[in-house]
Amino acid sequence: MTRTVYLNGSWLAETDAKISVFDRGFLFADAIYEVTGVVDGKLLEYAGHSARLQRSMAELGINCPLTEEELLSVHREIVLKNGLQEGLIYLQISRGAADRDFAFPENVTPTLVLFTQAKSVLDNPKVRTGISVALVPDQRWARRDIKTVQLLYPSMAKMQAASMGADDAWLVEDGFVTEASAATAHIISKDGKLITRGLSNAILHGITRLSVLDIARNAGLGVEERAFTPEEAKNAAEAFITSATNFVLPVTKIDGQPVGDGKPGLQTLKLRQLYIDNKLANAI
Ligand code: PDD
Repeated sequence: MTRTVYLNGSWLAETDAKISVFDRGFLFADAIYEVTGVVDGKLLEYAGHSARLQRSMAELGINCPLTEEELLSVHREIVLKNGLQEGLIYLQISRGAADRDFAFPENVTPTLVLFTQAKSVLDNPKVRTGISVALVPDQRWARRDIKTVQLLYPSMAKMQAASMGADDAWLVEDGFVTEASAATAHIISKDGKLITRGLSNAILHGITRLSVLDIARNAGLGVEERAFTPEEAKNAAEAFITSATNFVLPVTKIDGQPVGDGKPGLQTLKLRQLYIDNKLANAI
């Protein structure tokens, strides 16, 4: 099936959407992105993704050609044009096309692209088994708080994890876990506290993370926002990741060692359900 994608104000068949070879997203990874989950044709956590997009653009001095209301309309329209029931919307905005130069060009028009990916996000078989993760050094740049398309290292980390027989990588820097290749890392300690790294430039400020912490606190779970070590994670009662498309997904093995009893944790599954119920009720 050919999707209809959005490119700089036009709706095009995916095979007809083309961008310049001089686009700075292509030449310099001078671009940022957002991924918004869709269930029942509705957008999940849109306000959070929109706010983070504005922040990423401000950090890099990229000016969006559309207002926030127009962007929301494009999100709604792309769902309708593609009959998307469940999956995600990918948005990318680059600084635009200009002759190759390390200095940011002036008066360049950003390139804005949106496309959809249909995917079963609610009924994920990995919820029943959990995923396995391999610990891999974090060799990304130092501004991970900006959601740039510089995803080569996360890709390499994921491949390294796969070569070790794991589903995903947990990245480690200076003796502490930063995050997963494309998700936030969390553990639940044996005394029942949710531990997740505090916000800084070392990690992406996950939209799902923020909501899950809120939901956990409301459910009476203690929350500690601090870095944890790989050892602490291996000895935790439970572990999980959060992201726009995984919601809350159990991690049952770290570097080949079972977490807790090696089955998806009860608190983790409860948080997943509470998160899904809450976000579906507030989808727009
Ligand atoms: N990734 N950390 C990293 C490095 C990420 O790439 C992501 C999301 C997250 C979770 O953020 P959120 O809860 O806002 O989705 C954390 C997206 C889904 C992706 O790259 O496809």
